[in-house]
Amino acid sequence: MQVPKVVEIKRIEDESPTVKTFIFDWEIENETPGQFMMVWNFEDEKPMSLSLIDHVKNEIGISIRNVGIFTEQIHKLQKGDKLGLRGPYGRGFHIGGSKVLAVGGGIGMAPIVAYSEEATKKGIEVHIVSAASTRDELLFSNRINRSGAKLLTCTDDGTHGFCGYGTDLAEKSLSEEEYDMVVSCGPEIMMKKLFEMVEKYKISSQFSLERYMKCGMGLCGQCCVDDQGWRVCVEGPVFWQDELRMITEFGKYKRDSSGQKHKI
Ligand SMILES: Cc1cc2nc3c(=O)[nH]c(=O)nc-3n(C[C@H](O)[C@H](O)[C@H](O)COP(=O)(O)OP(=O)(O)OC[C@H]3O[C@@H](n4cnc5c(N)ncnc54)[C@H](O)[C@@H]3O)c2cc1C
Ligand code: FES
Repeated sequence: MQVPKVVEIKRIEDESPTVKTFIFDWEIENETPGQFMMVWNFEDEKPMSLSLIDHVKNEIGISIRNVGIFTEQIHKLQKGDKLGLRGPYGRGFHIGGSKVLAVGGGIGMAPIVAYSEEATKKGIEVHIVSAASTRDELLFSNRINRSGAKLLTCTDDGTHGFCGYGTDLAEKSLSEEEYDMVVSCGPEIMMKKLFEMVEKYKISSQFSLERYMKCGMGLCGQCCVDDQGWRVCVEGPVFWQDELRMITEFGKYKRDSSGQKHKI
């Protein structure tokens, strides 16, 4: 069984008023965008996607939105402070296709920026719909532009880019361009709408799901989805649309730490 590796925070980057990226030295092996790390603050442990996989500098990064007790504590850490990391876990995005639409909503942009960097390196044309509530919360725009991907931004309040939801902008792109792959990570309500679109356009697609996780490595059963029983931490978090069709709870409900269902 894997135990957390205690590592120093090498660098911290402020991404937005609510999101910081924490960068660590890490011997990169087969880390893939869409995979996640279990992050231990010596009290609790939570899953966080890899938002940076740098094969040249041997660095990884995780980008954390401050939403509660755990994430607030991590946001207080400084360069040189330590965290425990175990992973990477789960199945990441398959990097394929020749022209890909990647749709990220909110902190769901974390694995999408890592995906963009890997996919463009492989010569894939990537268009990214980056959706946020407001201009200041748009994430990773500089990195996406540097990767060579085409960035399409949208904000709920219209302060930057297209005014509306990520799904509205994705629909526009899907109707104007020919993609052979769609990838997505973000609020499940957004991904459910996108899933319905790709079914209509018949495009191969992959979606990254979030479920409450405890062990992160397939042992506890906390993250199992109805009614296949797939463990999101092992069989996911990235699922193909053929698999999503069989996840009956997708877009409807998810479970909290005690297994109670909550509507999405
Ligand atoms: C595969 C995966 C990848 C993730 N990647 C990122 C990421 O890159 N950046 C990021 O900021 N967040 C990410 N999250 C969500 C992150 O794990 C939670 O936001 C975090 O645990 C919240 O903890 P908290 O104590 O600060 O807030 P809480 O107040 O405890 O929770 C806020 C929200 O986070 C959810 N959450 C809490 N604990 C867990 C847990 N153990 N597992 C899953 N969800 C939980 C709750 O359901 C709630 O909706 C990811 C979750 C999963 C499952
Ligand atoms: S979190 Fe334990 S099986 Fe997935």
